[in-house]
Amino acid sequence: MRYSKPIKVQPVKTQPFTDQKPGTSGLRKKVQHFKQMDYLQNFVQSIFNCLPELAGSTLIVGGDGRYFNRESIQIILRMAAANRVKKVILGQGGVLSTPAASHLIRKNKALGGIILSASHNPGGMNGDFGIKYNISNGGPAPEEFTDAVFEETKKITQYHIAPIKGIPLDLIGSHTLEKMTIEIIDSVDDYAQLMTELFDFDKIKAHMADNFEICFDAMYAVTAPYARRILGEMLGATDDEIIRGESLPNFGGCHPDPNLVHAKQLVERMYDIEETGSTPNFGAASDGDGDRNMIMGDYFFVTPSDSLAIIAANAQLIPAYQGGLKGIGRSMPTSQAADRVAEKLGIDCYETPTGWKFFGNLLDDGRITLCGEESFGTGSDHVREKDGLWAVLCWLNILAERKQSVEDIVRQHWAEYGRNYYTRHDYENIPSEAANALFDNLQDNLSSLVGKEFSGRSISTADNFSYHDPVDGSVSDKQGIRLLFNDGARIIFRLSGTGTQGATLRLYFERYEADINQHDLETQEALYDLIETAELVANIIGYTEMNEPTVIT
Ligand code: G1P
Ligand code: ZN
Repeated sequence: MRYSKPIKVQPVKTQPFTDQKPGTSGLRKKVQHFKQMDYLQNFVQSIFNCLPELAGSTLIVGGDGRYFNRESIQIILRMAAANRVKKVILGQGGVLSTPAASHLIRKNKALGGIILSASHNPGGMNGDFGIKYNISNGGPAPEEFTDAVFEETKKITQYHIAPIKGIPLDLIGSHTLEKMTIEIIDSVDDYAQLMTELFDFDKIKAHMADNFEICFDAMYAVTAPYARRILGEMLGATDDEIIRGESLPNFGGCHPDPNLVHAKQLVERMYDIEETGSTPNFGAASDGDGDRNMIMGDYFFVTPSDSLAIIAANAQLIPAYQGGLKGIGRSMPTSQAADRVAEKLGIDCYETPTGWKFFGNLLDDGRITLCGEESFGTGSDHVREKDGLWAVLCWLNILAERKQSVEDIVRQHWAEYGRNYYTRHDYENIPSEAANALFDNLQDNLSSLVGKEFSGRSISTADNFSYHDPVDGSVSDKQGIRLLFNDGARIIFRLSGTGTQGATLRLYFERYEADINQHDLETQEALYDLIETAELVANIIGYTEMNEPTVIT
């Protein structure tokens, strides 16, 4: 269908904004901030200005369906047309999970994609919104590109937009806008197809039919239709087994972050808080845009770092990875559990800065097959984003093969490799000045900390992590302060790059325990020494004026 004759587009004059610097994962701000006149338009035009090859190319567009998604999509489509994009492939209703968008970019050999999401941040009118650009490999644009976009945003004077309104986002099929084709496709089809190519669906389905109950929490977010199709229609999960299973623009007023705090209903079911006498065998949740995952067993929580290590150790049970793993990537603050698996498998393990974009080169260069972050992100070379439902299917495939409980699988893993006790403490929404002062002070004291002893272990290295990308040689400095102890324990300090209010201080604690008789400690107790050491070294209470973290995972 054609809406109008091509019209000669006049550029719209605009003023730059000074705060459009993309963070760990694109530009994230409050919805109301994004709604300022020309704010979104400036950023989108700045992306387009950095893409000289845009004219005549294909773009994938979609978002997690949060409040302001549809309005933004309308604007982006009109701007794409005016900037001479040849074709946009759009998820129906403007909806695509982040991994599904990554897959579509790769499958269609698109120039890239625009993904609208603030991931696990709350949505709704007063919630957060976000936008990021992914490149042709399907992954988040590297820093070089996001820096260039930021430079553009500081000097932009005009943008291009086609004067056409009301593109029917829900109508599957091919549409024409100016000279641009918009192909609106089912949001789930291609992704579901990809999953059938990676996993043994018959085996998982048979296992799920055999007295095996699951509970998947879609958190009223983007994975709802994906889970209903894949776990429900294709693998036989009943409606009861998928909770919060519809997508809502405000995520039902909830915080769509799959952790023990925000996935409360799931946690209560897995620990049978209501004393029904039965618990599901497997529990999982995914976040706002479908790239994160949390994995649980009955009365059991799997830390994301362990999950990565266990998927790697059992990868030969999953059809896609039967040929072996090339290597494993993990972000620096993620526990070293995966390193032990890599060592045993005789493959490399890479340590990258926080943020998925750093895995892109390693995946493209064939150096790693699996990668993960402690922040509930796990993925593989099938796309270039972390992938929540993929991780769920990994576990279901492993469970279908091993026919053991989640807890037994994890405990056997610890028995074989040892246990990496691990926790993260977040101090959210602290004044930026306080956070910076804490960091400056710690940074200044780093050299004097080396050799100092705390609770029987001494600091062997104290530095600010710097990453040298082995593929393109780029260097990323100041990626987090590390205190490495002589027994392998670690304390890491970082400031979040995804928050939209104040600063968030993240502290990561890890220690290794080989002795199987010591594998039953409560995590916070097991790490208590290190938590105390962090306070001694960094004066967290003093700087933040908070007695305890706001979130512990
Ligand atoms: C957080 C996580 C990080 C993840 C990012 C995007 O970033 O810590 O691992 O890649 O969200 O999902 P941060 O807020 O710590 O910068
Ligand atoms: Zn996310």
